[in-house]
Amino acid sequence: MGFIEEINRRKTFGIVSHPDAGKTTLTEKLLLFGGAIQTAGAVKSNKIKKSATSDFMEIEKQRGISVATSVMGFEYRDLKINILDTPGHQDFAEDTFRTLTAVDSAIVVIDVAKGVETQTEKLVKVCRMRQTPIIVFINKLDREGKDGFELLDEIESKLGLMVKPLSWPVGMGQLFQGVYNLYEKKLVLFRPHSKQSSEEIIEITDLDSDELDKQVGEKAADLLREEVMMVEEVYPEFDKDDYLNGDISPVFFGSAVNNFGVKEMLDCFVEIAPTPLTRETEQREIDPYEPKFSGFVFKIHANMDPKHRDRIAFMRICSGVFKRNTNYLHVRQGKKMKFPNPTTFMASKKDIVEEAYPGDVVGLYDSGNFKIGDTLTEGEVLNFKGIPSFSPEQFRYVNNADPMKSKQLEKGVRQLMDEGVAQLFIKELNGRKVIGTVGALQFEVIQYRLKHEYGATVQYEHLPMKKACWIEWESEADLKEFESRRKKDLAKDKDGNLVYMAESSWALKMAQDNHPNIKFHFSSEY
Ligand code: G4P
Repeated sequence: MGFIEEINRRKTFGIVSHPDAGKTTLTEKLLLFGGAIQTAGAVKSNKIKKSATSDFMEIEKQRGISVATSVMGFEYRDLKINILDTPGHQDFAEDTFRTLTAVDSAIVVIDVAKGVETQTEKLVKVCRMRQTPIIVFINKLDREGKDGFELLDEIESKLGLMVKPLSWPVGMGQLFQGVYNLYEKKLVLFRPHSKQSSEEIIEITDLDSDELDKQVGEKAADLLREEVMMVEEVYPEFDKDDYLNGDISPVFFGSAVNNFGVKEMLDCFVEIAPTPLTRETEQREIDPYEPKFSGFVFKIHANMDPKHRDRIAFMRICSGVFKRNTNYLHVRQGKKMKFPNPTTFMASKKDIVEEAYPGDVVGLYDSGNFKIGDTLTEGEVLNFKGIPSFSPEQFRYVNNADPMKSKQLEKGVRQLMDEGVAQLFIKELNGRKVIGTVGALQFEVIQYRLKHEYGATVQYEHLPMKKACWIEWESEADLKEFESRRKKDLAKDKDGNLVYMAESSWALKMAQDNHPNIKFHFSSEY
């Protein structure tokens, strides 16, 4: 197969959801379709377990195991599909956000009973920043949940997505009978007790036909007719280009655990989801079809075992062909590097790859050379954009508890920040160091790792801040005025950019109202 065909058959996406909505279950069903795993449970066993919510060591160990599921590739209808795992834990970390910068599209899973939940909101915001095309899967229709229209309204208002249902449920919970596929005009009946498949497909091109009443009963048939009519009146025609521009999201209903509605969504996904997209760098746009290789690191996973200090840097290939044992330029360091053991992860097994194409992700063993956002090329100096830092929500002052180890502390903090474990800020007022994270768990991880990997002891001091925003100003006078009034809440990030820390959403709103010429951004790239 030629280079162009290889790129055209790749689709790289992430599944986004609040914990428990069914992301792992759906991933597993998708992998089963592709034959990448033979039995259900293979992915599940790598999932961070719910019982481990307070034990951070246990969670980190499990995150270590879940490296195996960081990228899952499978073949389906001659396509190579890469699912990038976005680890979902209550205490999730910034690398979940960052993984979304390496995908070309996303599937959002929503629990029919719970509707749109907080983590989904945060993750979809990241997708929307980049106009990532999104397909929505409303899961657990075998359980009682919210009304379909109510859910669609919630998705539109909370996630800011324009939606277009491509299937519509017939009943729900005990009365769930299946879905009507509006795209292909087929009734897909739910047969949970069937040995072969939970789906039976009946073609009904005319909803007014008696066949529908025969299949689902008169009452359900009438309700379906009414609802489908409303769907057709309320929602616009589905347009693939609108989806690809991130302007409209098709919605499917199903039950992942019963493998119902999954194939239908997958078949639509392979039809409409984008192949590897053009990417922006500070210098120029990179077309995936360019012959020369380029890629960027979006996630670094450290080994928690002190005996194996190596790390794995995950690199997304953006153009050309990446080859094993070939010299590439590490742009930031200005040095050549080659990789004898680049790895792909397929569910539970690791493989060394000889070649990888745009859209693929390879794991590179690293002894500390990489930072998040680093670029590798065949020689050109490029810096990929769109791998920002995200606004943290928890903050602590960092105090050195062992003055003899200040160098170690400094080095440890720097390296952990490079890995993207958390972000370091320096307060303008007093020059003190502040660590900001997305989830509280990271503080314990940092403390533990500083002790065990660097021999440094850190003590935290609470900082009652809730949000950090990168600021942009219209004129120097605007900045001066803002600085004079908010000095105590200002800090610099790792690149020296000015950040405003707000004590509450109310304080942020006040600052926005009082300083209309200052823009507040929730990620470092805007
Ligand atoms: P997550 O990765 O998004 O956190 O969710 P996961 O797939 O682990 O699913 C969370 C729970 O929801 C699991 O139950 C799973 O079996 C269940 N689930 C997933 N899809 C459906 C569905 O379509 N219908 C129903 N009724 N349940 C669904 P659990 O009890 O936590 O785990 P398990 O013991 O079943 O593995």
